Amino acid sequence: MSSGQIADQRSSVRRVRSVIERLVRDGTAVARSDGTVHSLFPVAVSAAESEALREWVSREGATQAIEIGLGYAISALHVCEGLLENAGPTPRHVVLDPHQATRFANCGLQFLEEAGVAELVEHHAEESQIALPRFLSEGRSFHLAFVDGNHRFDGVFLDLVFLGRLVRAGGIVFVDDYHLPAIKRAASFCVTNLGWMLEEVSAADDPHQWAVLRTSAFPDTQPFDYYVDF
Ligand SMILES: C[S@@+](CC[C@H](N)C(=O)[O-])C[C@H]1O[C@@H](n2cnc3c(N)ncnc32)[C@H](O)[C@@H]1O
Repeated sequence: MSSGQIADQRSSVRRVRSVIERLVRDGTAVARSDGTVHSLFPVAVSAAESEALREWVSREGATQAIEIGLGYAISALHVCEGLLENAGPTPRHVVLDPHQATRFANCGLQFLEEAGVAELVEHHAEESQIALPRFLSEGRSFHLAFVDGNHRFDGVFLDLVFLGRLVRAGGIVFVDDYHLPAIKRAASFCVTNLGWMLEEVSAADDPHQWAVLRTSAFPDTQPFDYYVDF
């Protein structure tokens, strides 16, 4: 990168950081779309969890990311910050949220715009269970995924199984709400039956946990009736 490009990149990262700091400090925000006042936490991920997420984006050198459940975009802002820091040629963050315009009055998209990253974000106002198989048929691929959408077993199970095919082999799937039995069980299926690895779990005494999974680095060659109880 030229010195001008490095200065631009640093200024983009600083702008994202300043929006993150404002939102975390204030804890509330007003939706530009309809003037409603929103309490961001605990719906949005905590500062500690989103820092861990940004670090994983950075550590993996990710430039293509996908997130299930945009909400207030606190997690998405951290992913974008990591993508910008990685300074790849065409960073992209695909975010899904069927309720962004209704339940969230488009606050998440508003914050991304305020942070100057709207251009690298691609939002789909759809359920992940509908969008992910389409991305697969379109041949899309990602370096890292963050999952914080439908928290029921069937929803998370589908998310993880499709992400296992959308994220590069040996790539990262960061899962929120790992303390919930449905999430832990769906992750356990991937580890026991699909060859994924549990890379990191937040502190066991934290009532709100997250986990980091790594997809299998090898093609699935198990027989058609392979099954391990999970
Ligand atoms: C806990 S919030 C996400 C908060 C977000 N991570 C943040 O930091 O602000 C859960 C989000 O998942 C979305 N959601 C629920 N079901 C979904 C589905 N099937 N596909 C995609 N998103 C979904 C909700 O609309 C909501 O935005």
